[in-house]
Amino acid sequence: MTGIGDTLKSLGGTVNTRLRELMDVMCEPGILKDAMNYSLTAGGKRLRPALCLMTAGMFGDAARALDFACAIEMIHTYSLIHDDLPAMDNDDLRRGKPTNHVVFTEAYAILAGDGLLNCAFEVMLKYALENKDKQPECIRAMSIIAGASGVTGMIAGQAGDIAFEGKEHDPDVLQYIHTRKTGAMIKASVLSGAVLSGAAEHELSALETYGSCICLTFQIVDDILDEMGDQTRIGKTPGKDAGADKLTFTSVYGIEKSKKIARRQTDMAVKALECFGQKAQTLSALATYLLSRDR
Ligand code: IPE
Ligand code: IPE
Ligand code: MG
Ligand code: MG
Ligand code: MG
Repeated sequence: MTGIGDTLKSLGGTVNTRLRELMDVMCEPGILKDAMNYSLTAGGKRLRPALCLMTAGMFGDAARALDFACAIEMIHTYSLIHDDLPAMDNDDLRRGKPTNHVVFTEAYAILAGDGLLNCAFEVMLKYALENKDKQPECIRAMSIIAGASGVTGMIAGQAGDIAFEGKEHDPDVLQYIHTRKTGAMIKASVLSGAVLSGAAEHELSALETYGSCICLTFQIVDDILDEMGDQTRIGKTPGKDAGADKLTFTSVYGIEKSKKIARRQTDMAVKALECFGQKAQTLSALATYLLSRDR
């Protein structure tokens, strides 16, 4: 049996191949395409598209969710390009490489992010138009992804993250920010794959619980890695959150309590999968992987 690391690698490879094809079809050659491709191919973990493919594979043919998985990765990569801008987190290292604005200038980094976001919706709409038998599922999945990436989801979380820099470290605000800035898209990745494969409402509800738990674990570990991660493993500059007085799990609870909360969330995530039996083995292994990841 292959481990979760191999599964992620294999799904990531499938996503990378399709992303290259999509970008070549959608973009004209030039600096804008180069800037978009630079961040897209810089080597992320491909966690969100993998989640989408995994849940799609639980209820049907994962291949039918591939373009949506790629769209999700485009949105995620856009969010990273903008997150790193001088006006946001002002980072110069991402995925082990100089950030987009450092290489292409701020103007192109903004446009590359805009371009990836727009391409994501073009990809999903094209798939829906070409697969008429799947249109209701496609529209529902798109609606989930649009909501999660939008002004009550990820963008709201990012706005909160900026607004609460240097402010009182309030646990309720922390919860608000983290469930949106990172949580919303992870949850949408889990749900969109399942929706595309026609999962039933009670199955979606169990997956929603799973998604809510793993997304919190994911961001808690991100906060811990910012504090004590190895730069060559995380591909980002550690210590930036404390430097900017960000509201993070470690700033509110400290490292040990944060780890404890992450462990509890992981247990709850695994429990939420019980109703699926063996079918959810990979998702369960992924929850445990997210707790122990070092990159
Ligand atoms: C980083 O996400 C940004 C956050 C939402 C915390 P990932 O850790 O998934 O980044 P990549 O995609 O692997 O680079
Ligand atoms: C970024 O959160 C979340 C999004 C990009 C939406 P962080 O600012 O914590 O992510 P990193 O640590 O820079 O990857
Ligand atoms: Mg940020
Ligand atoms: Mg950041
Ligand atoms: Mg972070």
